[in-house]
Amino acid sequence: MKYMTTAEIREKYLRFFEEKGCKRMPSSSLIPDDPSLLLTSAGMVQFKPYFLHVKEFDPSYIGATTVQKCVRTNDIDIIGTTGRHLSFFEMLGNFSFGAYFKDEMCAWAYEFATEVLELPKDRLYFTVFENDDETIEIWKKLGVEEDHISRLGEDDNFWRAGPTGPCGPCSEIYFDQGPDFGCGSPDCAPGCDCDRFLEFWNCVFTQYDGQEDGTLAPLPTKNIDTGMGLERMAAIMQGVQSNYETDVMRDLIAVGERLSGKSYKADAADDLSLRIVADHSRSVSFMIADGILPSNEGRGYVLRRLLRRAVMHGHKLGIEGAFLSNYVDAVVRLMGDVYPEIVDNRELVERVILSEEERFGVTLRQGQAYLADALSKLDGTLLDGATAFTLHDTYGFPVEITEEICADAGISVDKEGFASCMEEQRERARAATKDDAEAAWSTYGGVHDELLKELGATGFVGYDRLTASAEVRAIIKDGVRVDALAAGEEGEVILGLTPFYAEMGGEVGDMGTIEAEGLKLEVLDTKAPAKGLVCHVVKAVEGSVHTGDTVRAIVDELRRKRITRNHTCTHLLHAALRRVLGDHVKQAGSYVGPDRLRFDFTHFEGMTAEQIAEVERVTNDAIMQALPMAIYETSLEAARESGVTALFGEKYGDTVRVVEAGEFSRELCGGCHVANTAEIGFVKIVSESSVGANLRRIEAVTSFDALAYANKVESELKETAAALKATMFDVAERTAANLQLIKEFEAERKQAKKAAAEGSVAEHIKDMVDVGYPLVIARIDGLDSGALRNAWDVLRSRMPEPGACVIGTVNNDKPVIMAAATDEAVAAGFDAGAVIKAIAGNIKGGGGGKPVMAQAGGKDAAGMDAALDAARALLIKA
Ligand code: SER
Repeated sequence: MKYMTTAEIREKYLRFFEEKGCKRMPSSSLIPDDPSLLLTSAGMVQFKPYFLHVKEFDPSYIGATTVQKCVRTNDIDIIGTTGRHLSFFEMLGNFSFGAYFKDEMCAWAYEFATEVLELPKDRLYFTVFENDDETIEIWKKLGVEEDHISRLGEDDNFWRAGPTGPCGPCSEIYFDQGPDFGCGSPDCAPGCDCDRFLEFWNCVFTQYDGQEDGTLAPLPTKNIDTGMGLERMAAIMQGVQSNYETDVMRDLIAVGERLSGKSYKADAADDLSLRIVADHSRSVSFMIADGILPSNEGRGYVLRRLLRRAVMHGHKLGIEGAFLSNYVDAVVRLMGDVYPEIVDNRELVERVILSEEERFGVTLRQGQAYLADALSKLDGTLLDGATAFTLHDTYGFPVEITEEICADAGISVDKEGFASCMEEQRERARAATKDDAEAAWSTYGGVHDELLKELGATGFVGYDRLTASAEVRAIIKDGVRVDALAAGEEGEVILGLTPFYAEMGGEVGDMGTIEAEGLKLEVLDTKAPAKGLVCHVVKAVEGSVHTGDTVRAIVDELRRKRITRNHTCTHLLHAALRRVLGDHVKQAGSYVGPDRLRFDFTHFEGMTAEQIAEVERVTNDAIMQALPMAIYETSLEAARESGVTALFGEKYGDTVRVVEAGEFSRELCGGCHVANTAEIGFVKIVSESSVGANLRRIEAVTSFDALAYANKVESELKETAAALKATMFDVAERTAANLQLIKEFEAERKQAKKAAAEGSVAEHIKDMVDVGYPLVIARIDGLDSGALRNAWDVLRSRMPEPGACVIGTVNNDKPVIMAAATDEAVAAGFDAGAVIKAIAGNIKGGGGGKPVMAQAGGKDAAGMDAALDAARALLIKA
């Protein structure tokens, strides 16, 4: 067979189907536009709407062809243990939405396999769904021998993306790797678990829409969805035994070899780790590039689990420190030309990996020790849930990793116990953060959903108008539908159409009034608890409102104006941040209120003062250029082509709203904006802070609020200047000079204190007696610990002939006694430790030391004189 690189196979496939009339389309994101899926796991995911015909495919083509990046993690723990499983893989596919079906598909599959890839016909095997005679006939007509075709049941030959949605019977093509790969069983055939027959192409005849009750409804057209695992195909074409030995994967394994100094195929345990890290490094790189960040939930958790599993195996290989980002280079080099997002987001990928690795690295070894200890004490073969929870909560071990390590020792983990510890923790968190208002609001879910079904989405007219006449369609009070609200009552009002913007995408809801003759409702907030249903949260201040009333809805114009200034400003800030810090900056959340704005974004370190100033300057520059805003609707595809900034992981419909500020910023957004950036006036950034791993937050104010902020800063500064008796612009200099003065005074004060202390110590030379050596016993109050230590040096230097001393001091009510001596005095019989021991009882203290130096602190200052008298009695009278 002809050797082909992975890149050659990919290109030949796409070109083949392009030539048949399919449109070559890019891989979709790993974050599927489909709430039923966590991650994109097949090529057909992006085409679901076309199978269902809720959307029509471009009629100038017969279908689509793609290479789709996929992540499948239902079997993470076996990845690496077999040659066939990868967590990240590329799937080649072609898709028809009613244009071509079985006849064409089978013929083209056969043509591609035998003429383009030149696979030997006698090594190809075909399976069909149990009763699919039609497909058997098609394969036979193409020249396939009858004994190369077999029927398989639902498990193998009926394909579904999930419990519901487009699905259908399928026919699969297998390559016979030869009996050496087989299990040797006489029944060995396609579908057998062994490695002999390798399934490389799944052709699904997508005819049904799986319903929730399990029944199959026919789809409007008969469709095709095929998937060929690129790595598997590469293994066949390259004559290697596993996906990991194909060109691309082998290059990734080589990175691990280089980092660890180990060689692939030298040791089974090392091979497993090398494979796992190679595979997981690709998955995590692509996941991060598509906007997934490590977390404890959903896809973020899958990412964290893969990343941490890779780190563990790196350590098993003996690689020290953070290493995983080293793989990114190879991923970019090997795959960047097909998936530009990995090139564009390279820095983000490297930094997210590094920071997650560092987080985990800190606790990894401690966690391993904790687990080893727990396992050594374990009685039986079940690790308790609480230990697994501590490993998760304190040491960052995903429970599946704990399970894997335990499995190596033949021990299982009490998953239920673990789950209940998790639930308890969640409960605690919920109880701690529950906002009563939010909670009450969420319990209204049912009534809102019903109203949305009944009334449909509320027409929003508030982009251009701030007042509108409308009919009251429904009223809710305390979560229940009512016919009226009387004066003084609070509730929610739903209108036929409204100029009020409901809180969404970070922008707060509008306030204002709803009025009619003799009626006034104050709108306190506007929300959309069911998507598209606008609820005005109101208080009736005058008259009562009834369903069916015609009213005038009037948005508080000034407040809205302030909100729009802040909203447009977040777009400008976003663009400015990307210009100043780099393209890894992505919006992660925002709050747009009338008085301030908050913008959260991905970045890895605190911004410097210069960067903050530069972002502010660039944003103000865009404001002062008075850029006209252009806001229009277009197709998602057209918007993407124009390079629009779409939000990280956000879902968009087919028609999107583009908000442009001149050439400076172009974002998809449904919010309210100014008509020209000049309306923003100016912006002041008031803070920059961290709000989580790799997440920063900027808070800012615009227009009159920025002015108010600047005025406040100015008035504080003026007050400070007045207090300093300086001008406003000398404050910094004067303050620095004052600080310098304070420092000098402080030094002088210390010096004077020291001199005074020394002076008062020196005075006691007059008390010196000769007891065979010169001895000073004195009480000198007010010595701090430094001065007391110094006292002996002072005495020693001023005594005509140094001997020994016992000094007591009371400083801030605390009594301390110190005794010290020269070696000569010690030789003559003085023992500082013994003296202190003998007299410390008088000050209710204890302490001791050596013959040359000892000290004791006490609790009773009143006993100081008695203590010193006791010393005299001991030393002088003796
Ligand atoms: N959707 C099918 C699969 O993933 C064929 O593309 O196997």
